[in-house]
Amino acid sequence: MEARRVMSKQNDMQNVNEAVMRGKVLRAFAPASTGNVSLGFDLLGAALKPIDGTVLGDEVDLELASEFSLVVKGAFAHKLPADHDTNIVTRCYRHFIKVLGDKGIVLPAVKMTLHKHLPIGSGLGSSAASVVAALHGLNEFYAQVLGEVPFNQHQLLLIMGELEGQISGSVHYDNVAPCYLGGLTLMAEQADTLALQLPTFKHWYWVACYSGITVSTAAAREILPKQVSMPDTLKFGRQLAVFVDALYRQDEKLAVSMMTDVIAEPYRKSLLPYFDESRQFAMQNGALAFGISGSGPTVFAVCDNLEQAQKISLWLKENYIQNDTGFSHVCQLDEQGAVVKNANA
Ligand code: HSE
Repeated sequence: MEARRVMSKQNDMQNVNEAVMRGKVLRAFAPASTGNVSLGFDLLGAALKPIDGTVLGDEVDLELASEFSLVVKGAFAHKLPADHDTNIVTRCYRHFIKVLGDKGIVLPAVKMTLHKHLPIGSGLGSSAASVVAALHGLNEFYAQVLGEVPFNQHQLLLIMGELEGQISGSVHYDNVAPCYLGGLTLMAEQADTLALQLPTFKHWYWVACYSGITVSTAAAREILPKQVSMPDTLKFGRQLAVFVDALYRQDEKLAVSMMTDVIAEPYRKSLLPYFDESRQFAMQNGALAFGISGSGPTVFAVCDNLEQAQKISLWLKENYIQNDTGFSHVCQLDEQGAVVKNANA
């Protein structure tokens, strides 16, 4: 549904004033995500949610203001550029306003506050979480001003991919799509279908351990070969097709046997100290699969029981983490994706 054009400045201002008088602050949350899931380079992604309630994702607060401003808070705020003009949230706002402005829709300004909870260059979809929280927040916030959402889900996801691509160096939806939509998503990248939501194994636990070092996605893409061999191409295609079929038929054993990475892991693991030892421990202690989350350094292990997941998480905490910014969480898939709530409530 397209936004209706602003018919009357007076009506609009009335809505705005009501919202201002209510002092409304909307908070958007966008979860961490794992790109690739080993077997689906750039094509598969999953949203993650720690089972202990830890907030693993970014939040953006929005409130009406006379002019745009951005405040950056949170554990990883100091890792972002000091110049807020270059912050991705500012870029999201400017882009959002411009696209609507080009259609003749004039909107009042907002003050945005980014709570940067996710580490940058972690492989947990940190830039995607900021982009998704900002754009989903803007869409829902201005829906309250306009009376309907400015962009539908498909249009917004396109914008999310474009904006996230400005940070990671190329457009790939395997973080923004699961982060926005939730669950496990497969990229279709067609004009009317960008991403598909896949069935999952509800009893799986996903251990996600961030080592604390930084790996830039752009650099981790640079080290990949520009060509893929014929045998690897065939294996990649077979694995992805069989995995999706196994998900639909809930054939866990077959699905798990497809979860290997022929595209990126052989090259990227050299960037990750203790990767091989971590895989060995995880697989010897009941993990069904183990791999690099996105472009790393976060690694993930899939388990079908909580005790094993906790044991692997603890071992990774003690052996894979390299400094005090690292962490390890036992997660399940975040089926909701991005959400908004009234921050005043
Ligand atoms: N698919 C991307 C990559 C995800 O592996 O480069 C980055 O998080």
